[in-house]
Amino acid sequence: MNSIYDFTKAKRKKSKISMVTCYDFWSAKIIENSNIDCVLVGDSLAMVVHGFDSTLHATTEMMALHTAAVCRGTQKFVVADMPFLSYRKGTTIALNHVESLMKSGAKAIKLEGIDGHEDTVRHIVISGVPVMGHIGLTPQSIHQIGGFRVQGKGEESAQKLVDDAMKLEQLGCFAVVLECVPCNVAQKITDELSIPTIGIGAGVHTDGQVLVLQDLLGMDDEFRPKFLKHYLTGKSQVLSALNQFDSEVKERIFPSKKESYS
Ligand code: KIV
Repeated sequence: MNSIYDFTKAKRKKSKISMVTCYDFWSAKIIENSNIDCVLVGDSLAMVVHGFDSTLHATTEMMALHTAAVCRGTQKFVVADMPFLSYRKGTTIALNHVESLMKSGAKAIKLEGIDGHEDTVRHIVISGVPVMGHIGLTPQSIHQIGGFRVQGKGEESAQKLVDDAMKLEQLGCFAVVLECVPCNVAQKITDELSIPTIGIGAGVHTDGQVLVLQDLLGMDDEFRPKFLKHYLTGKSQVLSALNQFDSEVKERIFPSKKESYS
């Protein structure tokens, strides 16, 4: 994916879009060599990299620093998350945050929800910055939602998701993330939109899928939400490499002659 037009093209051709989160240079370099279509510098970095208990602690400074590192490692299409409240204090302030992320190398920004910041979304789009929407479970509203749970289960809340998705498309968003919504709701939204939907916990019918890199690599073996599949036993593989290094150091196996200068 080189531009937002590749997203619409993928939707038209019905080819699925793969997206992973990435927060640093070395994993960006690995992703660069993969078939993954695009990269999200998610505000989940506040939790995954910085150890906070929610995404509320991500700041634009953090997002910009990590976005720049990622963009030094990959040429792929990079989307950067707008942090908590950064787009809720008026258009000018939002634009300042957008500017930081775009100047760090992002090709688009993502923001959560729609109610109350429609004008800001429109203004960002007409300022020349591609916007990815994000509805369903929106982790920046976790205290309002009351926990990490599936959204849009009732008829009314499902219809609200459909309406919000349509609104995001009308405002000029080039794609929308659907997080933790029932499959049938995700399918309805996907069918009604002409921009692609990218799901996480939203079933198979979305136009693409996104996962947090560390989650799909199984770096936290205790984190097993229903929607997640581990593609690697990352934690145990890293642990065994570390322990092998430790024992080889202690048993004087490493470094051998091969790793030593004569
Ligand atoms: O921050 C993030 O990782 C995200 C994805 C879960 C879509 O927004």
